[in-house]
Amino acid sequence: GEEAAESTAPQEGDTVSVGVAIYRFDDNFMTLYREELENYFSQLSEETGVTYELDIQDGKQDQATQTEQINNFITQGKDVMILNLVDVTAANAIINLAQEADIPIVFINREPETDDMKIWPGKTTYVGADATQSGTFQGEMIAETSNQGDINGDGQINYIMLQGDPQNVDAQQRTEFSIKALEDAGLTPNALSEPYQANWDSARGQEFTANALAQFGEDLEVVFSNNDGMAMGAIQSINSAGRTVGEDIYLVGVDAIPEAIQALNDGNLTGTVLNDHFNQAQTVVE
Ligand code: BGC
Repeated sequence: GEEAAESTAPQEGDTVSVGVAIYRFDDNFMTLYREELENYFSQLSEETGVTYELDIQDGKQDQATQTEQINNFITQGKDVMILNLVDVTAANAIINLAQEADIPIVFINREPETDDMKIWPGKTTYVGADATQSGTFQGEMIAETSNQGDINGDGQINYIMLQGDPQNVDAQQRTEFSIKALEDAGLTPNALSEPYQANWDSARGQEFTANALAQFGEDLEVVFSNNDGMAMGAIQSINSAGRTVGEDIYLVGVDAIPEAIQALNDGNLTGTVLNDHFNQAQTVVE
């Protein structure tokens, strides 16, 4: 609570050691996020005279590796941990260990189960974006195109979904709510396939989109991508197949990373939704 936080607030000259575990460094969005965490902590250090010592670890998309890193944070007696888990089901065990060692946790980007967040209330919290809203905006952007996503005029929106890590609520909710927005607009979405498990990864986004273009040809009207990274891969395949975004196919992503803004300006992307790494990182630090 407020009072507890005030009574233990660090003073000028103090050092606060922060263990930061990122699920994988090789991720466009989490790289921007990580950079802003570093920036904002050093800004805060300058402003307050408190030294924030960051120890940032790369989980390399492997929970066993990451659990070891977190165990090290605990052994080293970090003051606080910022955790972007590889696998949110690990949260339960990690919270119990952190509680024994009295090290509060801010979870970021990958939301643990509600039950796990009840284990140590007040000392664990989550910072993330509302992924239902990002999904809704994606669907709305398609519904707002001149032909409402129905390029061939057959009354349906034939789409594929490039899905992020299905364990991540961001992936689940964007997948669900992008399609729900089409239905809510009175349109008829038609999935040409099960969601492709592209795991937030650009290379896989490219590969699955290439396969889908080969398999469904002109029928494919909309590519929904849970993030911009995968959408950037999709652009390659769309171009190689001789298709043109905005003319005979639509493509939407999430994050608004610089590469996506560039693609928007070049006409290679129909739309993206801001996933505000800047304010999320600053909120985490605060
Ligand atoms: C972002 C993705 C990122 C993922 C990592 C999502 O919120 O949109 O770009 O890969 O988080 O967990």
